[in-house]
Amino acid sequence: MSGANGRLRIGILTGGGDCPGLNAVIRAVAKTLLLEADAEIVGIIDGFAGLIEKRVRDLNFNAVSNILTQGGTILGSSNTANPFQVPNVENGKLSMADRSEEVVAYARDELKLDGIVGIGGDGTMSICGGLVEKGLPMVGVPKTIDNDLMHTDITFGFDTAVTTASEAIDKIHTTAQSHHRVMVVEVMGRYAGWIALHAGVASGSDIILIPEVPYSYDAIWELIDFRRKKNRLFTIVCIAEGAKPLGGQMTVASVVKDSPDPIRLGGAGNVLAKELHERFGIEGRACILGHVQRGGTPTPFDRNLATLFGHQAACLVKEGNWGRMATFSEGKVDSVEIEKVANRTKTVHPDDQLLLAAKAVGTAFGET
Ligand code: F6P
Repeated sequence: MSGANGRLRIGILTGGGDCPGLNAVIRAVAKTLLLEADAEIVGIIDGFAGLIEKRVRDLNFNAVSNILTQGGTILGSSNTANPFQVPNVENGKLSMADRSEEVVAYARDELKLDGIVGIGGDGTMSICGGLVEKGLPMVGVPKTIDNDLMHTDITFGFDTAVTTASEAIDKIHTTAQSHHRVMVVEVMGRYAGWIALHAGVASGSDIILIPEVPYSYDAIWELIDFRRKKNRLFTIVCIAEGAKPLGGQMTVASVVKDSPDPIRLGGAGNVLAKELHERFGIEGRACILGHVQRGGTPTPFDRNLATLFGHQAACLVKEGNWGRMATFSEGKVDSVEIEKVANRTKTVHPDDQLLLAAKAVGTAFGET
């Protein structure tokens, strides 16, 4: 493929949930390619929805200036659009159509793109991998506040989410202390406990509950009781939305129709607070932090990580190194085949150093 006038022509899209640092990546990809390769940059609106519905905009230097610190994405995003599964209603009947060939033809023949940089999580990477197989050159950039993508030590957005969650738990401490209460704070993270572990440790939470370690109600009660006997009259529990009791299930908040990843978790904190009340008479309060963790301006760390990732993606594009996702591993930017990341989840290992350090300083994980 080649641009209409012989210049490199690259599309950028942001897929999945929004995340602090997306604009910093868009800026880094576009500015590097504009300055170093005299490329033309096309912004694809609302993730894969824009490719399916043919909605794009030009991204010149001005369009990607002054966006480094902005949260969200100037391109818009969608966590339901998937070219391999497009809802189609005919004669009142809903079916899923594979429109991937059409999307590849649109990018290649109408938009005249040499390739696309897809910024997203495991679901987005899975779609990118599928489109690469169909002949669409793509490069991936790992995005998620959950930090659950394989082959990269960290994803941008995570640091901001942990900062927001830690600050919120710091504030909740004052109510817990004043009212001698058990406060249960639920954080995001899907099937991995990274946000809970990092925000829980940073805020000095007394109990951290993560999906990787199913918890025991009795163990939680014993810890609360032990603290009370030592005159520590309050307890802060930081619980991941994916945490579950021993022998129990994760708490599903909703099922999003037509989404490639339909399960939405949420409410684990309410379940725990209710059970502690019913079983042990503990009057606790649950607080679900929710989407505030994904909002607002990225931290300086995330701005810099996003810039490193965006620059790396632009380098992969310039080298024609398609089908790869930028990574950050052992202090260095690198890359990995997109298919190695697609639809996989990086969870907290029992030997994780922060987990072990937290246990060493007396933080409980709800284990028997
Ligand atoms: O993956 C990011 C994330 O914020 C998860 O932590 C959370 O489970 C999910 O997205 C929520 O998705 P939605 O945007 O559909 O509410």
